[in-house]
Amino acid sequence: MSPTIRPRRLRASAPMRRLVAETRIHPAQLVLPMFVAEGLREPRAISSMPGQVQHTLDSAAREVERAIAAGVGGVMLFGVPEHKDAVGSGATDPEGILNAATRFLAERFGDATVIQTDLCLDEFTDHGHCGVLAADGSVDNDATLERYADMAIAQAEAGSQLLGMSGMMDGQVEHARAALDAAGHAGTAILGYSAKYASALYGPFREAVDSSLTGDRKTYQQDPGNRREGLREALLDLAEGADIVMVKPASLYLDVLADVAAASDVPVWAYQVSGEYAMVEAAAERGWIDRDRLIAESITSILRAGADTVLTYWAVELAERLQAQS
Ligand code: PBG
Repeated sequence: MSPTIRPRRLRASAPMRRLVAETRIHPAQLVLPMFVAEGLREPRAISSMPGQVQHTLDSAAREVERAIAAGVGGVMLFGVPEHKDAVGSGATDPEGILNAATRFLAERFGDATVIQTDLCLDEFTDHGHCGVLAADGSVDNDATLERYADMAIAQAEAGSQLLGMSGMMDGQVEHARAALDAAGHAGTAILGYSAKYASALYGPFREAVDSSLTGDRKTYQQDPGNRREGLREALLDLAEGADIVMVKPASLYLDVLADVAAASDVPVWAYQVSGEYAMVEAAAERGWIDRDRLIAESITSILRAGADTVLTYWAVELAERLQAQS
């Protein structure tokens, strides 16, 4: 007997597949993470992230212009300071590279796109941890919250419109929210990197920001095996007032992402991190996979799992490709 129910009918032609597609990528759903380095004369290539660079202020401005032209949703800035110390002083210095770059870009492009900043100490500390250390060498949660509060105010004053809290300290969203409100920055939004796992996929990023970390972040980032805990972290950030919650990394954590998407009443983002980028670029360089297809497939899958928006180093390239197709 031949089947009467034939799902293949809806796959028969490109127009039919296009008509019934459940997931589409729109450029506004893509956010570009960018690195801006202090004291650079020329952009510097990041060898483990082919195609990505540490920017100068001028090259960053050109890249933001390109991102806006491509219709990308926003840019997320990371700073690479020349000098680091135990408390990450550069993070709260209004002239520190991240705050200076934010001011420079927000003045020029703040009306045309959403300028976002990473709010974490790891790029600025000489020990490379995301917080300040206690006398015994452990990361001191509550002392770090005070540094984050000052960072939040410095970033808001520089013109950041969305603060990406990526340090995984307990209470960080609530603490930063209170500090912002008290300082007259009630309009500055907070993105909680809510479920952030201690992942090997951050390897290339550590080169990108000249990280000085030895050891790992397992006392604050989550254990990759813990699914329920990812949802718990997101619910806590929602209760603390996060305007957006995020899951990170993306591709290996789609179950967590689906859980958070089902429970959240605010936008849910995912961060396709440096290692996800590097794996695809490396395999493509060897001719082992179809690079462009895999980029689109990976981001489609992250959206399908429940993300509203994806932070991805391919944001501009993919947005340009989508524009050319439409
Ligand atoms: C912390 C931070 C990290 C990333 C984003 N924010 C590094 C870490 O937690 O070790 C990683 C992003 C990536 O790998 O692309 N400031």
